[in-house]
Amino acid sequence: MRTVEWDNGAVKMIDQRALPWKLEFATLKTVEEVAESITNMTVRGAPAIGASAGFGMALASYQSNADNINDLLNDLRAHGELLKKARPTAVNLAWAVDKLMAIAESGEFNSPDDLRDVLLQEAQKIADDDVDINSTMGANGATLVKDGATILHHCNTGALATVDYGTALGVVRAAFEQGKNIHVLLDETRPRLQGSRLSAWEMEQLGVSYDIIPDTAAGYYMQKGEVDIILVGADRVAANGDFANKIGTYQLAIMAKEHGIPFYTVAPTSTIDLALKSGDEIPIEQRDPSEVTTPYGNPIVPENFNARNPAFDVTPHKYLSGIVTENGIVRPPFIETLAKAVAGEQV
Ligand code: MRU
Repeated sequence: MRTVEWDNGAVKMIDQRALPWKLEFATLKTVEEVAESITNMTVRGAPAIGASAGFGMALASYQSNADNINDLLNDLRAHGELLKKARPTAVNLAWAVDKLMAIAESGEFNSPDDLRDVLLQEAQKIADDDVDINSTMGANGATLVKDGATILHHCNTGALATVDYGTALGVVRAAFEQGKNIHVLLDETRPRLQGSRLSAWEMEQLGVSYDIIPDTAAGYYMQKGEVDIILVGADRVAANGDFANKIGTYQLAIMAKEHGIPFYTVAPTSTIDLALKSGDEIPIEQRDPSEVTTPYGNPIVPENFNARNPAFDVTPHKYLSGIVTENGIVRPPFIETLAKAVAGEQV
């Protein structure tokens, strides 16, 4: 089962808002619906957003009535911008749109229909490659996980956050499939609860031993010596190794350093943005404060109480032990090693 796929002229995705209670699917027939499904987090997680945007561009091309390449390109440019605005932090979204736009603008097509077909093939390739890349990252990262280890994890980075398999939780899965006896502490990840709702559901499916913990309990378990390694995902990695990930990642990194616990992010090279010198340049999404005051429609304080809701924070590279990619485990100095990994060199 894939998180997102092309289905007979539409984009079909798991509706992640309904989990863990119900496994429901959304079928999106327009690019506007795909953009909205990214914004409202029907689909979420950097690689899953990227694959959805790829299929969204293919959908935009079939949706367009253009009967010449120039008109089709204009429609694609407008819809590409619409998709890019759906969520700002995960670079995989812009990466997928730009990749398909570069192909569309290559001047190699004889007719709009040729271009439409190639865009769909390329969107499909982004989705297929994601699964292969995740399984390679899983194998690379599993070398870091010792038999008997307890892993602390934040947010959701499993199959649901990707097309299939997962990034940081893909490493957990690979270690588990290798027969290692492991346990995962899952931060619940307020306010959207990706850890308790989605990661725990995935651990249930796989049969991996886990406990959901309050976000505020992470330091408690580190202090007690119960955490052997911390694995998280990333939404955007800057050229110097600073990276944005789900809000709360930064404080975990600092506590990991205090306790001497290895701290890794697991991210495909499509999440690395060499155009940004440091994490200061990463745009951070600010979401509706009602997600804090009224999670999933359940008010926990009166409607007029004030709240703020940054969706991501930036962890400086000095806290990172390494970055697990499909091209190996990237180690400091990241300014040199990341560029090599992005160029496709094994590191
Ligand atoms: O707001 P979300 O749920 O899209 O945030 C997801 C994360 O922060 C993940 O850690 C990140 O996208 C990497 S997922 C493989």
